[in-house]
Amino acid sequence: MPYSSARFASRRRLLKWLSGSPLLAWPGLAGLAAEIPQVAPPKRPDPMIWGPGELQDLIKDPKDAINVFDFEPVMRRNVPPAHFGYMASGIDDEITLRANREAFLKYYLRPRRLNDVSKVDTSVEIFGFKYGSPIFISPTGGNKAYHPDGELAVARAARAGNHLEMLATGATTSIEAAIEARGGPVWFQLYATSSPEVGIALVKRAEKAGSPVVAVTVDRVAGRNQETLFRLRRTDTRNCKDCHESGQGGGASGDRSRRPNYDGIDLSQVRSFQSDNMTWDYIRRLRDSTSMKIVLKGILTAEDATLAVKHGADGILVSNHGGRGEDSGRATIDVLTEVVEAVKGRLPVLVDSGFRRGTDVVKALAMGAAGVGVGRPYLWGLGAFGQPGVERVLELLRIETRAAMQQCGVRNVKELNPSFVRRV
Ligand SMILES: Cc1cc2nc3c(=O)[nH]c(=O)nc-3n(C[C@H](O)[C@H](O)[C@H](O)COP(=O)(O)O)c2cc1C
Repeated sequence: MPYSSARFASRRRLLKWLSGSPLLAWPGLAGLAAEIPQVAPPKRPDPMIWGPGELQDLIKDPKDAINVFDFEPVMRRNVPPAHFGYMASGIDDEITLRANREAFLKYYLRPRRLNDVSKVDTSVEIFGFKYGSPIFISPTGGNKAYHPDGELAVARAARAGNHLEMLATGATTSIEAAIEARGGPVWFQLYATSSPEVGIALVKRAEKAGSPVVAVTVDRVAGRNQETLFRLRRTDTRNCKDCHESGQGGGASGDRSRRPNYDGIDLSQVRSFQSDNMTWDYIRRLRDSTSMKIVLKGILTAEDATLAVKHGADGILVSNHGGRGEDSGRATIDVLTEVVEAVKGRLPVLVDSGFRRGTDVVKALAMGAAGVGVGRPYLWGLGAFGQPGVERVLELLRIETRAAMQQCGVRNVKELNPSFVRRV
């Protein structure tokens, strides 16, 4: 420890000891006592886990948020423990969940100087659609568990910031209603179920509604041990059945079939809402069944990226489901280059899982991502303040991304390339 900080630390220890000591009553030590309140409080835990820990410190208005983490504890206060636990949970030891954040520390930016960045264009074009920002809304099911406006609030916030939005099959709002609220096309995330016919029926419905792209989730095939959810659920004193079995809870867990995207679809052949029997042949079959673009969500290796190209996919979303798939320990930012190199520019490669800062976004764009998705951050905003919370989360991410681009000396997303990033 350098001398000055060692001295500071020992002075701090002395002051801490004195604060609990009767010695302070001595007149000669009164001056020191005045210093005690100025001693810095212990550093907060890493914001990847929590923002302010004290309830009285919580932001009261979305405008007060300094970063996206400020919303999480507000959501925690507002939302039932079981619902918060479902959102926060990873799998098992949550190694992948942590890795998604920690891996960003392994990459640093290489900013370039003396470029005119007084005008910056953060827009991107994906499949012919232009968005104001490379940041997109990753699909998350059951948004009404966090706020009564649910996915409608999210869609309206996406509209306000002109963000690409993906709606989950298990949303508590139909694809038709989400498209209306977004005021433009919304991608449809597909959980194909164990019945190929049901998967195709869901896609056809989304296509009819005007959705241009189906994001087929390929990374959820097994049961999962969501320990944070299970532990927090035990602390929830409400009677879950009241909502979940009455349908008010959107058919969550108890009966998924009540989710609105399944309306009118014959589910009698569905053994499971997961797709443990899905193979590459299914992607071919889907290709032949729809004119929608097909993006595979959850690809994590060069081998599968190559197979995705071979089987007619139009895009790839590198994702580990926000650490909710398998506890592999591998962050998506560590996967991105492998997939981008395998694809060789033949398809757009998107990425999500663990993105919380503009610099995270810029690193991924420089490494070749066509867009960067967020899941939990907008749910924090939703659970904290509804639509204005989601809007502010997205705004903060836009502000940070724009600033990081300017600092790197680039005027638009296309100017970013791998030379702007190095691995430590
Ligand atoms: C509460 C929650 C629900 C989710 N639901 C779905 C879903 O229904 N379908 C899906 O493909 N991904 C789902 N995901 C994964 C997200 O699409 C996304 O990959 C992930 O949240 C990104 O990581 P992040 O939360 O760290 O930003 C869900 C994630 C969360 C946190």
